[in-house]
Order: sequence, then C-alpha cells, then structure tokens
Amino acid sequence: MRKKIAAANWKMNLRKEQGEQLLTAILQKNISLKPHQFAIFAVPFPYLEMANEKISGKINYSVAAQNCYHKAAGAFTGEVSAEMLSSMHIPYVVLGHSERREYFAESNAMLAEKLNLALSNGLQPIFCCGEPLSIREENSQNEYVEKQLRESLFHLDAEQIKKVIIAYEPIWAIGTGKTASSEQAQEMHAHLRKVMAGKYGTDLANELSVLYGGSVKGSNAAEIFSQPDVDGGLVGGASLNAEEFSQIISALP
Ligand code: PGA
Repeated sequence: MRKKIAAANWKMNLRKEQGEQLLTAILQKNISLKPHQFAIFAVPFPYLEMANEKISGKINYSVAAQNCYHKAAGAFTGEVSAEMLSSMHIPYVVLGHSERREYFAESNAMLAEKLNLALSNGLQPIFCCGEPLSIREENSQNEYVEKQLRESLFHLDAEQIKKVIIAYEPIWAIGTGKTASSEQAQEMHAHLRKVMAGKYGTDLANELSVLYGGSVKGSNAAEIFSQPDVDGGLVGGASLNAEEFSQIISALP
C-alpha cells in the first residue's frame, strides 16, 4: 500500500513557543498512525531541533525542512545545505514550493540540483509542482506540470525516484480558501502518475505518494483524500491549528 501522508507546512509563521504548543496539542491527541500513514511537520529551520525532539518516539511522526540550498557547501551566507539537515537527522525536505519558485526565483533546473543534493544526503524530498491560474484558465495545466516533473525529476534513476514524494499544489488554491474540487485533484494526480509511469514504468509510478495541497482543511480532507490517486495533503493555513490539523491526520485513509 502506498504511503499516505499529512504534511504540515508552517511556512514563516509562529514564534517558537507557539510552535511548541501547537505540536504538544497535536501529539496529546495520540492519533495512532497505521504503518502506511505518516504525519510530517515542515517547520522553519530554527525550530527543526525542537520539533524533532518533541516528536521523537512517536511512530510515523516526522519533521521536514521547508527548503535547502542548491549548492553543497561554501560561501553562501545565510543558506542551509542538505548535508546540514542530514547531520541534524531531518528525514524530509520540501523542495520547489510555489512560494519559493515565485519569490526566490527557483527554476526547474535549480530544483533538479536541490533534488540531487537532498537525495545524496539521504533526505526524502517532498517535491512541489502546480500551475498558476492563468495556465488553468487556458487549460494547459497538464503540460505545465508535466514540464516541471520532466525538468526537475527525470534525470533521477528508479532507486532515487522511489524516495521522492510529489505534492501537487495548484497555485490558485494556495491560501485562497479555493480548493480544487476532488475531481480536479484526482484528474491531475492520475495524469502525474501517468507521466511518471511513462518514464519509470507503471509499478514504480503506483508506489509513488502524490499529495494534494491548496486550502486543505479539517472539513474537506476526507473527501479529497478519498480520491484513488490522492495520497494525502500538504497543508499550510490549517496546519497552524491543532484541531484542524489533527482532523486532517485522522482523515488519512
Ligand atoms: P494552504 O497552503 O493550505 O494554506 O492553501 C498549502 C501550501 O502552500 O503548502
């Protein structure tokens, strides 16, 4: 069975004590996860250690970084490398979030380098893709997202690709309260899986977890996650609320 994942993306929110309280409140609910279910918290860099300590011993609860740099090491003041994350025992890293693509000019080629570094340092990337509204309006979202996969992922071999979690996040649904309908999500997820099958074969494509992101909430998670090609969610706003995110974790199939 494919891994089903509820991933929280705190973005640049919360003071440290607020983050601690949030994690405490979620963990106190003692939501037990089945072997194929995972809860991941993508927290700001300075909170990684705190979050990792808090969830230690909780089965299938993990921490992720929200980014890493596309160079291995050196004179890049203020940046954080994949190797640093790995040395802190951080298992996952979110790469290519649309906010990074938009505000920090991250290109598909740069993301290919980040994926290489993440994988060679033993991190599992959560690779984000998704189209802006203008592309959706002209109905070329399939080609747009396919290009993102081709240019950032297709140089990876089968063993590497198995470690990658894909998150489809239509930009027009992020932080807008406007969720893609579960049919729209399913349609794109099936397309992504087909694209991956074309390159890596059906068996491998069927093993990949593909998360949906964009205004997932406690009230719509179960419906979205019930789609056959949706393997959970990457959640921004609603992950900052203990009740909401707990509901989302509990909605994992
Ligand atoms: P949202 O963000 O849940 O607030 O729409 C999702 C994301 O950006 O990962």
